[in-house]
Amino acid sequence: MKLARNFFRPLAIGAPEPLRELPVRLERMIHFVPPHLEKVRAKVPELAGQVDVVLGNLEDAIPVEAKEAAREGFIAMARATDFGATGLWTRINALNSPWMLDDVTRIAAEVGGKLDVVMLPKVEGPWDIHYLDQLLAQLEARHQLPKPILIHAILETAEGVKNVDAIAQASPRMHGMSLGPADLAASRAMKTTRVGGGHPDYKVIADPVEGRDRAVAQQDLWHYTIAKMVDACAANGLKAFYGPFGDFSDAQACEAQFRNAFLLGCAGAWTLHPSQIGIAKRVFSPDPGEVAFARRILDAMPDGSGAVMIDGKMQDDATWKQAKVIVDLARGVAA
Ligand code: GLV
Ligand code: MG
Repeated sequence: MKLARNFFRPLAIGAPEPLRELPVRLERMIHFVPPHLEKVRAKVPELAGQVDVVLGNLEDAIPVEAKEAAREGFIAMARATDFGATGLWTRINALNSPWMLDDVTRIAAEVGGKLDVVMLPKVEGPWDIHYLDQLLAQLEARHQLPKPILIHAILETAEGVKNVDAIAQASPRMHGMSLGPADLAASRAMKTTRVGGGHPDYKVIADPVEGRDRAVAQQDLWHYTIAKMVDACAANGLKAFYGPFGDFSDAQACEAQFRNAFLLGCAGAWTLHPSQIGIAKRVFSPDPGEVAFARRILDAMPDGSGAVMIDGKMQDDATWKQAKVIVDLARGVAA
């Protein structure tokens, strides 16, 4: 089965593809809702107009005694809502949990035709994806679903990070991956209790130089994993995402962490609190100044080849492609 990808892949040889309108599906924020709570479900139709993706969370943060209620609540909310262009995802329970099989079979049977993506937590290797891939294929056949349900893996175990390339290649159903910094920190025995973000003690201190203050710079705990995930995703036509940022009171740090992910190649992030929706929308939409400059590059090189100077900066085939990434995203945001 070959699935269409809404991901731009530049030609490797010869002139870049000519400009064309791409159907960019925006997924700047994957907004998590706990579907066992009726008052939360009641707000979903309004929410669907504000976010790119609504995700019904069935896994961590849902109490054990509410697992069935969350599953049935998700089905009710999927049935009751017209999601329009907004994506509908669910995060199911882990493969080794007592709930996962019913999560997938009930949801595929009841609302499989409306479901875009299943987010699979605690993925360790391609074998996890193969299992879910086959299960979804069986359920799609049994229920005659009109379109394939895609799989999104959370990268949140040391084993998963080690196997990230194989996970990305495991199935044509793969949609993308998200960094899961909380579980990953635990899996690696990192010494932090935070959900995403930095740590004040993870820093570099400049060498002592006479007459100068020693500069101290906090480092990004997640840079290595995000870069590794982005490479695995981009090489396989998938999208990469920053996961959760748990300190809802620190909008500034959330924005900085999301922006690093955006600049490194991520398409979006999870939003766990309504206050983070606006942050993700702002960060994962391209900056107007960057878009204007990128358009000047495309205009100056109509066939995408050669070299020109713009404001003293050299442009060539490679910067044409960089500019096209930004302009395509801007078009998607404007559509
Ligand atoms: C998300 O699931 C995380 O563990 O950070
Ligand atoms: Mg997790």
